[in-house]
Amino acid sequence: MIQKPCIGVLTSGGDCPGLNAVIRGVVKSAEQLGYECVGFLRGYEGLVDPVSYIPLNRKNTSGILNRGGTILGSTNKGRFAATVGVQDRVNIPVELLEGVATTVRQLNVAGLICIGGDGSLAVAQQFHEVGIPVIGVPKTIDNDLSATAFTFGFDSAVACATDALDRLKTTAESHERVMVLEVMGRHAGWIALYSGIAGGADVILIPEIPWTFDRVCEKILDRDHEGKRYTLIVVAEGAELPDGALVVQEGAKEGRGQVRLGGISAYVAKEIERRLRRETRTAVLGHLQRGGPPTTFDRVLATQFGAHAVRMVCEGRFGEMVCYNPPQIASVPIMQAVNRLSQVEPESSAVQAARALGICFGDSPTQCSPFRKAVSEPAAADENSSADSAFAECESLVEEALAT
Ligand code: F6P
Repeated sequence: MIQKPCIGVLTSGGDCPGLNAVIRGVVKSAEQLGYECVGFLRGYEGLVDPVSYIPLNRKNTSGILNRGGTILGSTNKGRFAATVGVQDRVNIPVELLEGVATTVRQLNVAGLICIGGDGSLAVAQQFHEVGIPVIGVPKTIDNDLSATAFTFGFDSAVACATDALDRLKTTAESHERVMVLEVMGRHAGWIALYSGIAGGADVILIPEIPWTFDRVCEKILDRDHEGKRYTLIVVAEGAELPDGALVVQEGAKEGRGQVRLGGISAYVAKEIERRLRRETRTAVLGHLQRGGPPTTFDRVLATQFGAHAVRMVCEGRFGEMVCYNPPQIASVPIMQAVNRLSQVEPESSAVQAARALGICFGDSPTQCSPFRKAVSEPAAADENSSADSAFAECESLVEEALAT
């Protein structure tokens, strides 16, 4: 039985690099202030029926700063499905909430630190509404939570995708191919945008900017004309096809009733091959983006989040979420962060800088090209059929240009 006031911590939803760094940050700073710590296992599931937790201390959290995953386990499925918001609220069953309140009382939990993304923080908000003392900590590789400039996990995912682009570039160049890298991010294009800039992509396709195959193919031909007969494309899994369709994995539903995205790179590659008859290959990075050690940035951010969350318990700032408001770590009501997707702003400076460098977002002409007229005018009339002859014509122009 735990006697001293205690801080509970749990990790919920899809994992990401940096979760262990937060746990360590919580435990080390909580111990300094005289708290004991417990870690609930498998996300919210460990809070009730059966209650499952482990005591956490300096000894068993030693050496986890740079370890990926979470020592507490996590799940994005199970009994705790919640949304908040006026119209589409999904409530947690009352008996579950009562069970959690009982656990918190019995273990003398002074504050429950819930580390999670949008769905998990919606659960925390409902806990708060019934008086359970919660503090939220935002995590996700997708960086799609409002009210924080960055979530930890994002920088590590971007580093992974950037490394993949570095590798794809050399083989694309050797074989004069088009390479399409598909990255995660759900309905936000942050990972695609940042890795695309850092990895020197030529085309970035994101959910926030509608795009067409005409423009993508123009860019490939522009590069051909410059003598660069390879092209690197990064596509976000949640980018919609030009007809507005999302590409989802067949029959797959995620824990909270959402579709499981994935597979858009194959569509993009197939259409490029059909239009330009250029060898095109795909790489789907998948869960590699979620695994492995956190980057330096994520270690620092996660550690600060952990220490700040403990401070918030001491100050009784329940119902709030730690956030990064550069250069400060601050906090906001959880309600301000959930149910409001943070997406890339199409006019943001990052997008503008990318455009200034000639990176194509598949929406507008990137630079003056001798091929522009030939490819854009007929294709604009019929996205799917008229482009073929225009591109065939362009290709022979490119061949001619390269031969001279
Ligand atoms: O939200 C994080 C994330 O990795 C998304 O980028 C991705 O769409 C999803 O989770 C994958 O979920 P799962 O691990 O359940 O397949």
